[in-house]
Amino acid sequence: MSVTADAANAVTEPAKVPTTAEIRQSLPLVTVRGLRVDYGETTVLDGVDLDLFPGETVALLGASGSGKSTLMRSLTGFAPISAGTVRVAGHDVTNLRHGQLRTLRSDVGQVFQQFNLIPRLSVLTNVLTGALHGAGPFNLVGGFTGAQRRRAMELLDRVGIAYKASEPARSLSGGQQQRVAIARALMQRPRLILADEPVASLDPKLADSVLSLLRSIAAEDGIPVLVSLHVLPLALAHSDRIVGLRHGEMVVSDATSRLDAGVLATLYDEEDRDDDDR
Ligand SMILES: Nc1ncnc2c1ncn2[C@@H]1O[C@H](COP(=O)(O)OP(=O)(O)OP(=O)(O)O)[C@@H](O)[C@H]1O
Ligand SMILES: [Mg+2]
Repeated sequence: MSVTADAANAVTEPAKVPTTAEIRQSLPLVTVRGLRVDYGETTVLDGVDLDLFPGETVALLGASGSGKSTLMRSLTGFAPISAGTVRVAGHDVTNLRHGQLRTLRSDVGQVFQQFNLIPRLSVLTNVLTGALHGAGPFNLVGGFTGAQRRRAMELLDRVGIAYKASEPARSLSGGQQQRVAIARALMQRPRLILADEPVASLDPKLADSVLSLLRSIAAEDGIPVLVSLHVLPLALAHSDRIVGLRHGEMVVSDATSRLDAGVLATLYDEEDRDDDDR
């Protein structure tokens, strides 16, 4: 396949999104029940129930401080779980045995607002670092196999940016860097992708194209993608289901096509906020 500069700027064609019925025929890859997270005296998540099914893109909404990042962190063992159960790709996150934490984290591809690339390294090497997940303390000098390099190039092609492979990551625009970060996550062969505000630093057109890309990956690779967003229209346009947190409780969980904007607006109501939050 030839790769042109246009490919990176093109808005990705919507993937054939699996129907809710198709999705629900599979077992959930993530099952969260009665999750509670406390930081000191503060309860940050309380009674959260969540299932994520292979192939679906779920938008996670909620005001700042409602617990979106904490929920994502709880799926990879980075949050202190006080109560409830969290199962991710067969791992019991509340009761991980020795060595399982590394396996869990290598099963979960993560995409962040600030891309988290290594600026001075080439785009290709940044993608290759995704292969080091689960490999222990890593050594870039050790080199990568030919098969790994070919796969990294294929993934860069898939995200429309192979023509930048040898450029240093710092020379890319934000939208391009986020595509590299997505390719890096795919290099892990993830069973789940968590994207915490992946488009908050991008202009609206690039935001659309990055979210379309994530949704097509969910549908084509049959993995759940959980993506936190602050922009309602983006969530409505690019998700199969929306879950909404309010003060750490899950108050919305429904198919995107069934939700109306009024329900979603309650996530951002200032009324009956705790005094502490004002
Ligand atoms: N490591 C921590 N120690 C103490 N409190 C924390 C910690 N991490 C998060 N919190 C608190 O937990 C609450 C939820 O934070 P979280 O980062 O999950 O919110 P968020 O929904 O992701 O917000 P934003 O939209 O601003 O990213 C906040 O009140 C925050 O101060
Ligand atoms: Mg956050």
